[in-house]
Amino acid sequence: MTEQAKPLCLSGKGVTKIYGFGDRRVAAVDHVDFEFRKGELISIVGESGSGKTTLVKMLLGLTSVTEGEVYFLGERRDISSRKKLRTYWQGIQAIFQDPFSSYNMFNKIDTVLLDCINMRGGRRLPREKKIEMMTEACSFVNLKFAELTNKYPFELSGGQMQRLMIARIFLLKPQILLADEPTSMIDACSRATILDMLLGLRDEIGMTIIFVTHDIGLAYYISDTVYIMEHGKIVESGSADDVILRPSAPYTRRLINDVPKIHEPWDFAARRPAAAEATN
Ligand SMILES: Nc1ncnc2c1ncn2[C@@H]1O[C@H](COP(=O)(O)OP(=O)(O)O)[C@@H](O)[C@H]1O
Ligand SMILES: [Mg+2]
Repeated sequence: MTEQAKPLCLSGKGVTKIYGFGDRRVAAVDHVDFEFRKGELISIVGESGSGKTTLVKMLLGLTSVTEGEVYFLGERRDISSRKKLRTYWQGIQAIFQDPFSSYNMFNKIDTVLLDCINMRGGRRLPREKKIEMMTEACSFVNLKFAELTNKYPFELSGGQMQRLMIARIFLLKPQILLADEPTSMIDACSRATILDMLLGLRDEIGMTIIFVTHDIGLAYYISDTVYIMEHGKIVESGSADDVILRPSAPYTRRLINDVPKIHEPWDFAARRPAAAEATN
């Protein structure tokens, strides 16, 4: 199958977000076009303040789109009611940078996981089946469900909380996962583990990952497709090889030149091969 033959899962035309009013208006995201294809790992790369999180929030439906259209599985997205938004969230989920902000701190861990099973229509499953599913999801991320049941998320370390986020995704099985700098607040050792788990999950359930990062070296290592954002605009996009080995925008060249020398030269042999094909 060629690149172009993969079906679109999420795309946008002229997507814009304006914050503020009058002469204080700021375009956090400024008329961006994108075509994310099924089964790919797409990285959105840009410095802090370039509009990455704002774009993620619009794609998830957490903040309104000021102008432009988002298309989900080829159809114009309709999230005009709470019910439609909940249906949309069965197909698209997110992991954010700060795991502390991602949980309702009053919910114990088994409640967090049970909610995921319920969201996927498992409310009426027998209790033993639910426990089996939660145990499986926890063991996928090397957590022991039996030791977690009576704990609250804040009793976990940052790395464990981020792993619990991945266990949620394991249960929710969305078609698309938005991962907004999911490893930037955890230590380097946990970072590699989290990345491996995310990539393993993509292979397990065949989801499309949109990975947001300021680290262009990491983007090269994991992505099929790369979008570069500067001041709310997409300045360049294409295959990871085209964009990072043969950059055309001056901004991309600057990001590459800013990569600490310890990363160079990129280890081509170690680069993870793209997942074979989309499976859903
Ligand atoms: N809720 C908000 N109100 C006003 N301005 C905002 C808000 N959220 C983000 N911005 C502004 O939008 C721009 C892009 O921010 P953000 O999307 O967080 O970028 P990134 O994730 O790339 O660091 C920044 O200039 C930021 O200050
Ligand atoms: Mg951000």
